[in-house]
Amino acid sequence: MNNVRASAPGKIILFGEHFVVRGNHAIAGSIGLRAYVSSREKRDWPLIIESRNLGMQARVYLDKGKLKAKTGHIEVFRPFIQILERLRETGKIQPAIITIDSEIPVSAGLGSSAASAAAFTASYGRLLGFTITREFLLEMSYEAERVVHGKPSGIDNTIVVEGGVILYSREEGYQRISVDMNNGRLIIADTGVRRRTGDVVLDVLELYDRHERVFDAIYRAAEEVVRESIPALERGELDVIGELMNVNQGLLYSIGVSNERIEKLLHVARNEGALGAKLTGAGRGGSIIALATDENAGRIKSRLLENAPWSGIGEFGVEGVKIEED
Ligand code: PMV
Repeated sequence: MNNVRASAPGKIILFGEHFVVRGNHAIAGSIGLRAYVSSREKRDWPLIIESRNLGMQARVYLDKGKLKAKTGHIEVFRPFIQILERLRETGKIQPAIITIDSEIPVSAGLGSSAASAAAFTASYGRLLGFTITREFLLEMSYEAERVVHGKPSGIDNTIVVEGGVILYSREEGYQRISVDMNNGRLIIADTGVRRRTGDVVLDVLELYDRHERVFDAIYRAAEEVVRESIPALERGELDVIGELMNVNQGLLYSIGVSNERIEKLLHVARNEGALGAKLTGAGRGGSIIALATDENAGRIKSRLLENAPWSGIGEFGVEGVKIEED
């Protein structure tokens, strides 16, 4: 029986999260933690989707030509069921056991939902005999992101599909950036606080509407941060990148997406000599990133681990979604 295994990387947003939702540019990079999805042929319905990490599954039946998720943790798997629904519309659908196994912490701002959706599409789409194009992967993973939160900018699904480091805006799509990390290292730490991206995004949009002129100025400053960061990233100017990370964090604080746990980790990192630090992703929990030199990265990570359930020194700019085994 056929078995297709695919994977996609997690991501961090280096500059510009939230601002990107209203059309600003932002910069994202893939990281060395991956979501793996295997699809195995199965003779009869139901199709089973299971998550190894969560220890949960959902069973999906084909009933008079329509897909119905009848039993299991249906809500958790809603984004994947949406992808199945889109595939069914094309006329190709067959039962399978689809297993999701991810190294990326869930709801931590590290792109676990986008990575699982992209790997899911590549793995099950290939099993069904689809040609797996970039467009197909981008479209399906965007569809899944829309289920997770109503107004995704598209940056998460784009970076996990494309890999590397990208400059992204809603209007212009993405462009690759070649980053010279010099002897810089990115440290990621998870606050352990879980939140829903959609809720945080909506709060920011509401606050924007209440203070439009002030927020316009903040959004312009955020755009400037991204613009200035590009040559610094290309040339490996760690001091400048670090300073701009701190400024970006100040802007994120001002739009209400930081919190005590995030600020605590940022201060730990900066006190230990990080060149810059900021939250990454939606905020109000999730993860932070800190920039350090090779020499002090290990020490900063250890100090962060005293205050965070998970921290790692990120491999950065890795390959996007790929088929592992066919
Ligand atoms: O879901 P997260 O935590 O990776 O955040 C996504 C980034 C946002 O800019 C907050 C939302 C978006 O769709 O761009």
